[in-house]
Amino acid sequence: MSTQLNSGKKKANTINPVKVTTQTVVDMKRKGEVISMLTAYDFTMAKLVDAANVDIILVGDSAGNVMAGHETTLPMTLDHMIYHTSCVVRGVDRALVVADLPFMSYQVTTKEALISAGRMMKEAGAHAIKVEGGKPIVETVKRIVDAGIPVMGHLGLTPQSIYKFGTYKVRATEELEADELVKDAHRLEKAGCFAVVLEKIPSKLSALVTKELSIPTIGIGAGPQCDGQVLVLHDMLGLNKDFHPRFLRRYADLYTGIVDAVGNYVADVKSRDFPNENEQYK
Ligand code: KIV
Repeated sequence: MSTQLNSGKKKANTINPVKVTTQTVVDMKRKGEVISMLTAYDFTMAKLVDAANVDIILVGDSAGNVMAGHETTLPMTLDHMIYHTSCVVRGVDRALVVADLPFMSYQVTTKEALISAGRMMKEAGAHAIKVEGGKPIVETVKRIVDAGIPVMGHLGLTPQSIYKFGTYKVRATEELEADELVKDAHRLEKAGCFAVVLEKIPSKLSALVTKELSIPTIGIGAGPQCDGQVLVLHDMLGLNKDFHPRFLRRYADLYTGIVDAVGNYVADVKSRDFPNENEQYK
């Protein structure tokens, strides 16, 4: 079942000191190696995720949901994203760090987009940036790539357009939208993207896009045939008890673990069990 806890499965965390680059992930597709990607937004979590050998850490604007408690990703600013990304970069030795450019930091003009991408690289130390959308941002992607900044695309359910969609339902189930998505994937590849996220689209469609592109596809709710998979860290660790989309597999129940631990601390403080003889200076 998709939302079951999977903490007991085998892990791939023998230390791998080789740094992941954008070229590494393109080569992984060529060699048929599957790419793992997870989000992180702070130093401590980034350090843990990197220690487990994830290939790409995405500083997603989902920070707006899981870190800031907003309903959508729209309120995130470039300054917020630069702050989160700089925290993550300080915790990472191996993974490729990709940072989301937030809503309205790249859609108005190509010049503004380039300035936003440049700030993300210079001030936060990101290794690459991610932008949402197809045809309308192709020229912008080209300009950013021409400036030497690697770009990851994002198609399908693009949360920055949630008010246009009106729903978080699966995208591109109709032929017209599916055809346009395939064209957009090609446009992004041609514009110079090194990878593209496919979010919440039918598996058959992501399989087709994955077959047609030479750059890797990284899926979230897009089926098993993508070149890689991504999840939001807080969701896969079971920190969000009330979020149960079909595509989410939970690998821990940290909600229960943390609430129990904090509850035990509160009880120990109240009963004066904590601190004990050995937990004080004499
Ligand atoms: O912001 C985010 O976390 C994302 C992933 C869901 C791909 O864009």
